[in-house]
Amino acid sequence: MANHIFINEKIIDFKKKISVASDKSISIRSILLASQAIGVSKISNLLESEDVLNTLRAIKKLGINYKKKSGNYFIEGFGLNSFSSRKRITINAGNSGTLARLILGLLVKSKCQIKLIGDKSLSKRDFSRVIKPLRLFGVNIQSKKNSLPIKILGTDYLRPICYNERIGSAQVKSCIIFCALNTPGITQINAKKSRDHTEQLLRSLNYPIKIKTKNSFDKISIKGLGQFKSFNHIIPGDISSAAFFIVLVVLSNKSEMIIQNVNINESRIGIIKILNRMGATIKFRNKKIYRGENTADIFIKSSKKLRGINCPSYLNSSAIDEFLIIFLVAAKAKGISTFKNLGELNKKESPRLDIALRFLKMIGIKVKRNKDNIKIFGNPKLEVTKNIYIRRYLKDHRVFMMACIAALSFGGNWKIEDKDSVNTSFPFFLNILKSLGAKIN
Ligand code: S3P
Repeated sequence: MANHIFINEKIIDFKKKISVASDKSISIRSILLASQAIGVSKISNLLESEDVLNTLRAIKKLGINYKKKSGNYFIEGFGLNSFSSRKRITINAGNSGTLARLILGLLVKSKCQIKLIGDKSLSKRDFSRVIKPLRLFGVNIQSKKNSLPIKILGTDYLRPICYNERIGSAQVKSCIIFCALNTPGITQINAKKSRDHTEQLLRSLNYPIKIKTKNSFDKISIKGLGQFKSFNHIIPGDISSAAFFIVLVVLSNKSEMIIQNVNINESRIGIIKILNRMGATIKFRNKKIYRGENTADIFIKSSKKLRGINCPSYLNSSAIDEFLIIFLVAAKAKGISTFKNLGELNKKESPRLDIALRFLKMIGIKVKRNKDNIKIFGNPKLEVTKNIYIRRYLKDHRVFMMACIAALSFGGNWKIEDKDSVNTSFPFFLNILKSLGAKIN
């Protein structure tokens, strides 16, 4: 079957209520922590995307049993470091940086060598960021170029560390937290702010973890070797998936949408703060708190007057997966938008900063780049009339979805390759677009 789509028409205005894919970060963390809990955990509304299915496959290979019943996942853990695999195994993390980096922190005591591999995109990504702190703990890790494949052999002689995490990476922070769980004594991390789902989940399980926030850093201390009981978790919607529909509505003429039950953790809502500053109308309704995480229904309506933004860098980490789609709003806004210190974007599933610049130029938008800073010269009258062909982007799911939203918002004749890429995070993305009236062939 063809793995590309064609979009040749803009979407017509709509008023709809939708639900998006469940949160990927929380799904992966719930599975990994359930595998370390004592007893059977029940996870409801788990995201059934490739990254999450690879997480389930990984724990199964490590000897953890799970089953799916009436839509819920039941995972049977036997406590910390209870992976039972006694022979050399290979774990394939597929496309998932989160799975690959987080699971390393749980393999630090394994009795046999474990090899971690991934797909083409993941194999290009940097792992020195987790190898370095894990080696300080005393873990034996081998890797030729600080990238996958990685071989890890556990040790019984782990020592706690004090670590400065300056990238602002939740994957690095969580890997260290997971290793700290297996390490005697108190591990301390001074982490530049990033999504804090791991900390929230551990807190909600009454695990001894302390967090003090100072400026844009979190001082985290974790006592190792504690145990925690199995838990129930209901996964909320993913704001990173909602982002595509938020922008579709913001860029429309006269549409409205409610996206139900989305996680609005403060460390994830950079996109809302940025778009509202650009003149969008996005509101939270029906706010709730569950396991330390805020959720809400998100109400959006089309915005008549979008203006450029001088985006403060402190919002970068809370919008890190959303910049591609935010750039589409900057393309249509009046005036110049400036975004700074976005080097991390080039370390994602594809070099997203490079790709975004190419993409914006292709649709006729002027852009200027100075190292990791970019300026986007918006055009409120933006209309695309030519043929656009999107390919060679390492099958990055977020590039594919951004291209679909651009095609439906700006017009033109689009051919977009690798529609399967959405299986990474949002398998029913195209179905929702079609239910809103999008014509996609
Ligand atoms: C994630 C953290 C972010 C994000 C990724 C998911 C997580 O990566 O880009 O999609 O679940 O921890 P970094 O930690 O590398 O910034």
